[in-house]
Amino acid sequence: MQGNKITINDIITKKQRGEKITMLTAYDFPLASLIDRAGIDMILVGDSLANVVLGLESTTQVGMMEMIHHAKAVTRGIKSTLVIGDMPYESYQVNPAESVMNAKRFIDEAGCDAVKLEWFNQCLEVTEAIIKAGIGVMGHIGLTPQTADKLGGFKVQGKDAQAAERLIQQAQDLEKCGCFSIVLECVPDKIAEIITRKLKIPTIGIGAGASCDGQVLVTHDLLGLFERFKPKFVKQYINLSSQIEKAIQDYKKEVIEGRFPTKEHSFTIKEEELKKLK
Ligand code: KIV
Repeated sequence: MQGNKITINDIITKKQRGEKITMLTAYDFPLASLIDRAGIDMILVGDSLANVVLGLESTTQVGMMEMIHHAKAVTRGIKSTLVIGDMPYESYQVNPAESVMNAKRFIDEAGCDAVKLEWFNQCLEVTEAIIKAGIGVMGHIGLTPQTADKLGGFKVQGKDAQAAERLIQQAQDLEKCGCFSIVLECVPDKIAEIITRKLKIPTIGIGAGASCDGQVLVTHDLLGLFERFKPKFVKQYINLSSQIEKAIQDYKKEVIEGRFPTKEHSFTIKEEELKKLK
């Protein structure tokens, strides 16, 4: 740790010590502050922003403008947690030079500490270029939502030996490239275990079993704030949607019935001032 701030080295050291790593997504100041206060190791400003905050169908529908805007709000709320900016689809699948420029924006403009990018054909070339520019990169293999259509949809990946070998190879190539950790999304637990054992850098699982070095969840799923669908790998720790709905209904009822606001929520003026009014 540098001061109280968690560094990339701290994350790697956690794996070496056999300590589990925690990561959650955040897209705004209030949730980022709460996650930071709870002592979570890493925040991902995920492109899941598209689904859980902006009401869009696909993560490919957000670009750099939205991601930088939300990443700035997140970093304003951070004291300790390492913040990773998720590179949106359009920002790194064009050419390595443009990818480096966009990765730099996450660091320089938004104050992130590193970036994440999903596996695609030229992933290694792009990852290498970003790392060469001095920016930490987290890889992402298995189910990669930005290119899910090429993977046969939102399905578990690496389910036969050949596909599993491909995933193991991708993980090893990303490590060789210099990634500081890799997200494994929707991968059979035994394959995630093999990858985790083979790598010196930490694996962060989402739907990849308990053997990964760390876990990540979309915070809105964990809090029950996203109702459109619930993947099998999600554990909902609280149902905030129903609690928020109830609070809003209570507010509406009290306003309609004249029970809010009361004296407690109102401001006063001295009687003599009131008398001066015509
Ligand atoms: O965008 C996101 O939230 C992610 C996580 C699911 C890892 O990429």
